[in-house]
Amino acid sequence: VTPIHPLTWTEDEFANFGVTGQVTSHRYHELPLFDRDTLIDLLDAYPRRHLQAFTMGENPCLNDEWRCVDIDPTTTGDELWRAVMNGRLWLNVTHIGEHSRPFADVIASMYRDLGHHCPHLENPVPNYSTLLISSPGAQVYYHLDAEPNMLWHMRGRKRLWIYPAMDTQFVPQEFLEDIFAGEIDENFPFDPAFDAQADEYLLQPGDVASWPHNGPHRIVNVDLNVSLATSYYTPSIYKRQYVQLANRFLLRPLKKMVSYLR
Ligand SMILES: [Fe+2]
Repeated sequence: VTPIHPLTWTEDEFANFGVTGQVTSHRYHELPLFDRDTLIDLLDAYPRRHLQAFTMGENPCLNDEWRCVDIDPTTTGDELWRAVMNGRLWLNVTHIGEHSRPFADVIASMYRDLGHHCPHLENPVPNYSTLLISSPGAQVYYHLDAEPNMLWHMRGRKRLWIYPAMDTQFVPQEFLEDIFAGEIDENFPFDPAFDAQADEYLLQPGDVASWPHNGPHRIVNVDLNVSLATSYYTPSIYKRQYVQLANRFLLRPLKKMVSYLR
């Protein structure tokens, strides 16, 4: 089956996918699926239990200002869109592939293409996809995701910083282990000095951003933004997960015991 919009990347871009931070292009944003009115209709009918709204402050260091916002079950799609347009909201439309057949087809198409052109991904299996609709100026704090993921950008512009992955200067080892163990969420301390070593991008509709697994990143929107975030699993990702869990639950207590006995 041919992907809906086959990716026309260079061989190097396919080979670097998930290996280095990079922004390449796609054409999924041209689908009517991402038109304003279609998105409003989607929001209108969307199961409220799978809609999440958050708000946040402006300082990228104060990640405890990230707050969940209740959505009144009677709120219409149009009201949600206007709230995002005029407020400071981050709307996660979760389980999108389960509730929308056209989105399921888009996600399957993306992974068909990636699986075909990126043998190093070892036939990635899509795990979790979320449509993100977010306000002008909204931000996502410095964080890393336990699963490998990517961001397909559809509407608006956003600034993205990608920081070196698996570098304890940016992510202390114990934070990484705690994230895999589910003991803390995915945010951890940010120092603005980190930006000097980050790759910074201004994402436009039709860009897809990817980065190495566990690479820290953060986002600040310019306009109202619509993006699709998708994550995946491969056999080697499971192995990495088990290694980090072993570090957390076997190695860490063992190290403590050894230092105690000394
Ligand atoms: Fe992320």
